[in-house]
Amino acid sequence: MGYMNKLLSKIKTHESNIAILGLGYVGLPLLLRFSEKRFPTFGFDIDEEKIQKLNAGETYINHIDANKIKVAINNGFKATSDFKKIKNVDAILICVPTPLGVHNEPDLTFIRSTLDSIKPYLRENQLLVLESTTYPGTTEEEIAPVIKEKGYEIGDNFFVGYSPEREDPGNINFNTKTIPKVVSGLTENCLELTKALYDQIVDQTVPVSSPKVAEMTKILENIHRAVNIGLVNELKMVADKMDIDIYEVINAAATKPFGFTPYYPGPGLGGHCIPIDPFYLTWKAKEVGMNTRFIELAGEINTAMPTYVMQKVSEALNNIGKAINGSRILVLGLAYKKNVDDLRESPSLELIDNLMSIGAKVEYCDPYFQTVPSTRKHQFKLTAKPLNSDTLKLADLVLLATDHDDFDYNLIQKEAKLIIDTRGRFKNSAKVIKA
Ligand SMILES: NC(=O)c1ccc[n+]([C@@H]2O[C@H](COP(=O)([O-])OP(=O)(O)OC[C@H]3O[C@@H](n4cnc5c(N)ncnc54)[C@H](O)[C@@H]3O)[C@@H](O)[C@H]2O)c1
Repeated sequence: MGYMNKLLSKIKTHESNIAILGLGYVGLPLLLRFSEKRFPTFGFDIDEEKIQKLNAGETYINHIDANKIKVAINNGFKATSDFKKIKNVDAILICVPTPLGVHNEPDLTFIRSTLDSIKPYLRENQLLVLESTTYPGTTEEEIAPVIKEKGYEIGDNFFVGYSPEREDPGNINFNTKTIPKVVSGLTENCLELTKALYDQIVDQTVPVSSPKVAEMTKILENIHRAVNIGLVNELKMVADKMDIDIYEVINAAATKPFGFTPYYPGPGLGGHCIPIDPFYLTWKAKEVGMNTRFIELAGEINTAMPTYVMQKVSEALNNIGKAINGSRILVLGLAYKKNVDDLRESPSLELIDNLMSIGAKVEYCDPYFQTVPSTRKHQFKLTAKPLNSDTLKLADLVLLATDHDDFDYNLIQKEAKLIIDTRGRFKNSAKVIKA
């Protein structure tokens, strides 16, 4: 039996050993899904704390139940930072971060260092699939050369695919199994194996003709969101000047049964994907002499949102004879979106920073963060306040930045003196100002 058929049959009988590299928001749920389907699973990460927690059956992601990790351990799952063990696995799925550099350029350091760590231990007849979001061409330009340097023939005795992740943390309507998965490979054999692998764990795979197409598909999905959010953020400001409630408008438009998808404004983009991924294409497009004007315009509008919110805070306080300087401001929600414990790129942090830098006394409530974890840009020594009448009454102004469902909105409406609502969560009233 040829290499291809041996690996294919191991995949179909769930006997292939699966390695997930990068056990974060994407890698960990993927690993648990393979384990659920009784594949032998091995998790690789460079973060020793995560490895220790996983091997102790503990979770570090709020929406991932520790019991699922314990069940996976009982089924043989192990986490490790020992990349030598890569030689024992049949499929290697890479789910490491792909952030932006300081000049908004793609930062592939994590992908490259992962490849460096595993390169000595790669062996014939493995399938390597990149899951990280990236610009079109990455699989061909970054992964293929490493495999060729090892002397392997891609599609013959080593197989390479790309399959973008579509996780939506906190969304209870979809999970790894039910979200259709786009799959691709560098050759026909690579595609067949990649598709066969994901067919074991998801309800539907969507094969496309090349990794470039799959990479661009993922970027299109995120550009689509970024641009539409930019559009409603701009329209929110126009509507405000016309004394129109943009949420009422969007909800009315959303009753159209075709040709309209509702997107909602907010205090700025957050998370690992929407503020970042579109700029991967912007950078790559320059190589072919093209500009991505929609992406840049949406980026401009979306990054200006915290400034717009600041202006609304300033006006609201001014109307009651106060300044931001010296006022007590209670920020509700640190996470970049509701009901998650993820604050990457969260506009709440920028708002807190802006408010503090001009003298506001800032406090915050967020059931997901008792303290504010340090990020590359922000370090705050704050601890969460309980959301109760006393906390609300103490504040000159309450700024709703993230509309977690756990917040008691009736209590906030009743007790707050002034509310800046960046999420359209409150009914219009004298003390509510939409921003
Ligand atoms: N979070 C999401 O909702 C989401 C959705 C779709 C796609 N993505 C994409 O998936 C990728 C991963 O994102 P994430 O949110 O899971 O990131 P994350 O930061 O939560 O997890 C990444 C993990 O990779 C580990 N890591 C870093 N370098 C490593 C190395 N050399 N070897 C092994 N592990 C290493 C980190 O320690 C971390 O645990 C990114 O490309 C992201 O754009 C994320």
